[in-house]
Amino acid sequence: MKTIKKCLFPAAGYGTRFLPATKSMPKEMLPIMTKPLIQYGVEEALESGCDTMAIVTGRGKRAIEDHFDISYELEHQINGTAKEHYLTEIRQLIDNCTFTYTRQVEMKGLGHAILTGKSLIGDEPFAVILADDLCDSADESVLSQMVKVYEKYRCCVVAIEEVPKADTSKYGVISGHLVDGSIDTYRVENMVEKPDPKDAPSNLAIIGRYILTPDIFNIIEKTKPGIGGEIQITDALLEMAKQGKVIAYKFKGKRFDCGSVDGFVEAINHFYKK
Ligand code: UTP
Repeated sequence: MKTIKKCLFPAAGYGTRFLPATKSMPKEMLPIMTKPLIQYGVEEALESGCDTMAIVTGRGKRAIEDHFDISYELEHQINGTAKEHYLTEIRQLIDNCTFTYTRQVEMKGLGHAILTGKSLIGDEPFAVILADDLCDSADESVLSQMVKVYEKYRCCVVAIEEVPKADTSKYGVISGHLVDGSIDTYRVENMVEKPDPKDAPSNLAIIGRYILTPDIFNIIEKTKPGIGGEIQITDALLEMAKQGKVIAYKFKGKRFDCGSVDGFVEAINHFYKK
């Protein structure tokens, strides 16, 4: 039986770094080659064993729902033509996944967006993918690797990578002790959201992949707004870490920060060459 069946996609953010492109179009619909960012995320979740994609949207995000639905008019037009194959991949996703949606009415931060998804998740462990962090790996997807880590430790798992110390203020940063060097897992002892390089506990930064246990929802409910006035998932996870319930996993693969223009261009070049 699959341990992680649902994947939550917080996709309500404003995407201000991509204005004006994101004025009326969701950041998650920005294409890398011919596929929007969120489709890569859904493919990764499906490959990792999830069959329910729980998407937290907001105002101006209708295009996401339309993307994961049939477009009768378009399909009628191209059925039986040489262009039919362009829709094969997306049709497979629509046929193999259930998509559920809820709206975050006020954008109060990532922690709040995850809490908004509670009604879609219920009382079971779940994955979280931030679609603007696009991951590519040679063999197994990053989320599949994390599901294995979850199955070993049965607690929250965050994906981490080493970043230049000067960049710590863009990320949640952890410190902890190595528990298994053969698979690069750390028991998290401290985590800080967007620390100044001089205050950062390490250069191990959390990227947009999490596996969370449902007790996180109660903790987020009690979490006060942190840096930027937003309810931060890092602050909620710190409470879990104090009880020894968070593992950080240095994933195998490459991550592109497609929420920034530089990372987005890098991802396009990478996938184009591929
Ligand atoms: P970001 O801070 O990277 O996204 O949030 P943003 O706010 O959309 O982008 P900028 O900084 O203005 O350019 C990380 C993820 O959390 C989601 C975003 O959609 C993104 O996937 N998020 C963030 C929410 O769903 N709700 C929020 O209130 C905040």
